[in-house]
Amino acid sequence: MTNQPRNIAFIGAGNMTQSIVGGMVASGYPSNQIWVSNPSPAKLEKLAHELNVHTSHDNAEVAKHADVIVLAVKPQLMADVCAALRNEVADLADKLIVTIAAGIRIEKYRDYLGANIRMIRVMPNTPSLVGKGMSGLVADDRVSDDDKAYITEAFDGVGATLWVADEDELDILGAVAGSGPAYFFEFMASLQKAAVGLGFDREKARAMVQQTALGAAEMAIASDLELEDLRKQVTSKGGSTAKGIEQYQAYDIDKISDDAVKAAVQRNQEMAKLF
Ligand SMILES: NC(=O)c1ccc[n+]([C@@H]2O[C@H](COP(=O)([O-])OP(=O)(O)OC[C@H]3O[C@@H](n4cnc5c(N)ncnc54)[C@H](OP(=O)(O)O)[C@@H]3O)[C@@H](O)[C@H]2O)c1
Repeated sequence: MTNQPRNIAFIGAGNMTQSIVGGMVASGYPSNQIWVSNPSPAKLEKLAHELNVHTSHDNAEVAKHADVIVLAVKPQLMADVCAALRNEVADLADKLIVTIAAGIRIEKYRDYLGANIRMIRVMPNTPSLVGKGMSGLVADDRVSDDDKAYITEAFDGVGATLWVADEDELDILGAVAGSGPAYFFEFMASLQKAAVGLGFDREKARAMVQQTALGAAEMAIASDLELEDLRKQVTSKGGSTAKGIEQYQAYDIDKISDDAVKAAVQRNQEMAKLF
């Protein structure tokens, strides 16, 4: 932890909160400066027992302790949860508000919590649950560089972070990184099926697909080469990989990805209108 720890409260103790808090404590964040609230007891007991953080069933109580409030409930509960906080916590404008809920725009939180809040929206993705997340972040213009550095460090505990310019870019990041694990699983499952179709048993097929995906991702991360050049490096002219790649290109894989990402962006924008 290089940034000064602050008192931070998580509203909602679900999967994402458990991973983020776990990552923060593992990176040296003092657990006595972390509060978590949740209606049901089991998740709180686990967090208190394993990570020694403060817990409560009362959202307002944990929020009152905090300089930073992380809203981590399902989007459909957000309006009610925020309305209760607004009623019960006097100085919300003095606190940094962070939300990880998908789809709800900062403007909407101003309706929920007051026009003068300062706010960061984070879009984590599911691999955050295993410490390999890709979180997109966007801030309103009241958020300071110190606030940004602090939140970056908190989310670096569950993977990588990427600041984007505005909420439209966050929708695009959501369509690539948020939905991306599903695209990769779909592709991995189809490779598995192809191997099974040729006689492999499912477990062996899965083992080779997932290890290959991991290896390719690690190579991409370690390399300065463009992704297309990495692909060419493992594609000898006239070889078997070249024959396989020809099949993907025949179906215009670039168009498939372009269509998929555009459709997901459009859906993100439609869903934002529901709130
Ligand atoms: N999981 C992901 O990969 C992912 C990715 C990107 C964004 N997100 C966003 O992150 C947020 C949390 O997701 P999650 O996966 O952690 O969901 P989750 O596991 O369902 O956790 C939500 C938690 O909120 C609690 N809760 C319900 N009502 C509450 C209230 N009134 N006050 C305080 N807490 C309340 C629930 O408690 P009970 O179980 O006791 O009802 C539950 O523990 C969502 O907004 C989601 O859109 C998640």
